[in-house]
Amino acid sequence: MKKHKVTKWSAIVLGTALATGLLSACGAAGASQEPPKESQKPAEGDAAQTDPAASPFAASSMQSTIEEKDGKNVVTNPTSMQVVVNKQRYLPDGYEPSDLVVPEVPFSFGGVIEKSHMRKEAADALETLFAGAKEQGIELYAVSGYRSYKRQKSIFANNVAKHGEAEAAKVSAPPGTSEHQTGLAMDVSALSANNELEQSFGDTKEGQWLAEHAQEYGFIVHYLKGKEDKTGYSYEPWHIRYVGKELAQAVYDSGLSLDEYLDEANLSGK
Ligand code: DAL
Ligand code: ZN
Repeated sequence: MKKHKVTKWSAIVLGTALATGLLSACGAAGASQEPPKESQKPAEGDAAQTDPAASPFAASSMQSTIEEKDGKNVVTNPTSMQVVVNKQRYLPDGYEPSDLVVPEVPFSFGGVIEKSHMRKEAADALETLFAGAKEQGIELYAVSGYRSYKRQKSIFANNVAKHGEAEAAKVSAPPGTSEHQTGLAMDVSALSANNELEQSFGDTKEGQWLAEHAQEYGFIVHYLKGKEDKTGYSYEPWHIRYVGKELAQAVYDSGLSLDEYLDEANLSGK
């Protein structure tokens, strides 16, 4: 999906370059016959800078990937690596990824259970991330990956019972809106944080490595400190979400949250 979009965008750029080359070649060849009319047109490159539709991520923009169903906004691209689910954007009823596998990485628990899984592309990328971390002396552990609607429902209900709905919603997604249900998220920790999912993980060398390098492997740390009002969640330095390398790097460079970045208004000039 991601590769296709980048290819499409590259094709536009390449097409523009070829067309420009072709036009100037034609202009040179035909200079003595007619004046070059094309030079009065705005450069296509300039249009691409300001036209959100020219972004390689336009097809995944927040506005173009939603439809209303039974009073809820439901995403139309649940299988895309670039899907955005949040409190306002639900996965379709009964959504389950069809390509779940168990990544070959160390886990904080034994055995293979539901949360051991991720979608294949994300699992491959996670293996590469863990290997890259290890080469730099950083030992990470996978703590929680895929979560079914049913399990998210029970986690959310437990949190509501313990802390009330408002507090529960800051730390856990209402069922149908969790990135864990997409199969593209993994919670990660380290022995230095007792493999706990605590904000203090962000201060460990492993948490810092993750914050600085996850994007090189196609992941973003989604729920950033200082972006709570944009993401709807408390800071979660352990929660990484696979989006593909190009989008991960672009989101990281922008300093925006994924949700903000894919808002069509933020696509122009990127
Ligand atoms: N803890 C994250 C927000 C989830 O429940 O999906
Ligand atoms: Zn998580």
